[in-house]
Amino acid sequence: MLTETKARPKGLADLPPVHSDSLLALIALCNADPRPDKIDVGVGVFRDGAGNTPILKVMKEAEQRLLDTQTTKAYLGSAGDKRFAELIRPILLGHHASDDRILGVQTPGGCGALRLGFELLATMNSDTRVLVGTPTWPNHPPIIEAVRLGMDEYPYYERGQGVIRFDDMIAALNGARPGDVALLHGCCHNPTGADLDEDQWREVVRVVSERGLIPLIDIAYQGFGRGLDEDAFGVRLMLDACDEVIIAQSCDKNFSCYRDRVGSLFIKTGSPEATATAMAHVFQRAREMWSMPPDHGAACAHIILEDPELHSRWLVELEAMRDRINSVRQRIASADPRLAFIGKQFGMFSMLPLSKEQVLKLREDNAIYMADSGRFNVVGLGDDQIDRFTAAVIGALES
Ligand SMILES: Cc1ncc(COP(=O)(O)O)c(C=O)c1O
Repeated sequence: MLTETKARPKGLADLPPVHSDSLLALIALCNADPRPDKIDVGVGVFRDGAGNTPILKVMKEAEQRLLDTQTTKAYLGSAGDKRFAELIRPILLGHHASDDRILGVQTPGGCGALRLGFELLATMNSDTRVLVGTPTWPNHPPIIEAVRLGMDEYPYYERGQGVIRFDDMIAALNGARPGDVALLHGCCHNPTGADLDEDQWREVVRVVSERGLIPLIDIAYQGFGRGLDEDAFGVRLMLDACDEVIIAQSCDKNFSCYRDRVGSLFIKTGSPEATATAMAHVFQRAREMWSMPPDHGAACAHIILEDPELHSRWLVELEAMRDRINSVRQRIASADPRLAFIGKQFGMFSMLPLSKEQVLKLREDNAIYMADSGRFNVVGLGDDQIDRFTAAVIGALES
């Protein structure tokens, strides 16, 4: 006999509150601040000296060409724009571009690539454990948790001294189990700006390959650090040494097309056949999640990369973004020896050795908005804001 229960079925109203991304909350706080001289260094996008995030000129031109020439918006399939992925290959993989054990697929931005990469790993083995550096980009852990993979941490950065905890990192990777996944930042580490140098990459690659770990390299800022090839040094070295490598790539920053969601996932296995099988799983997972990636941004990047003239103009615009990042870094670094580490780091982000209280005081007293962790975007600063920001930070360091 069925027993009657008084428990009422759960409805949508029973959902628990969500503790939203603190960076989103920071943006809302900054927007609500009426002070005209407020400084927003919490933002995650490139800004020029006037404080704008312009659309690249080559992107505007590619958009116009797309508008003029596109004749259909029929479905493309789960692989998205295949030519786009082919054009990204040499930029990302360098001398590995012709390796037929590596296949790539267009994804909705770097986030989509990460999610798809972790989905593939969970499909391969639901007991896979992912080793994540501390600190890392705050969206890494939720993406890994979403596919229900286990996670462990390895030490990465000492914020007080502005240095990579390299020996601790290597010890942790040396203690990992074969088959564990090592999540690494290809370049322009977010949130610390502290990139592995070439010798450190060699050592990490050696340990990863000797321990039989699977590297998943997240490279979202290629070209924002030292240059396109230099920033892919770690990716290519890993491909030299390892048979199984996953790379999650984003064009959202280096094409400045953030909201258009342009990225790709590359998979390498020991044979073309095994890679084809892995890719079939990737397409399956993509089909379940977004069916196919959005076309517009990748179609424009495709137009730019295919056309020699637009391609070289893109390189010039990318270089201008990189130069601004690096010159703002040098200006901040030269203001005080305690900020010198910022001049040796790469990409848009660095972490100031400030307590949460000091960060909040900067917010209240100086209308400077940065993450509680002390992470700030160097190019969140307009040219006319750099000196005031630096002076306020030096004041906070002395308080
Ligand atoms: C380290 C890192 N990986 C991936 C991404 C995702 O980039 P996208 O906007 O292309 O999804 C970001 C974006 O902020 C990032 O900082």
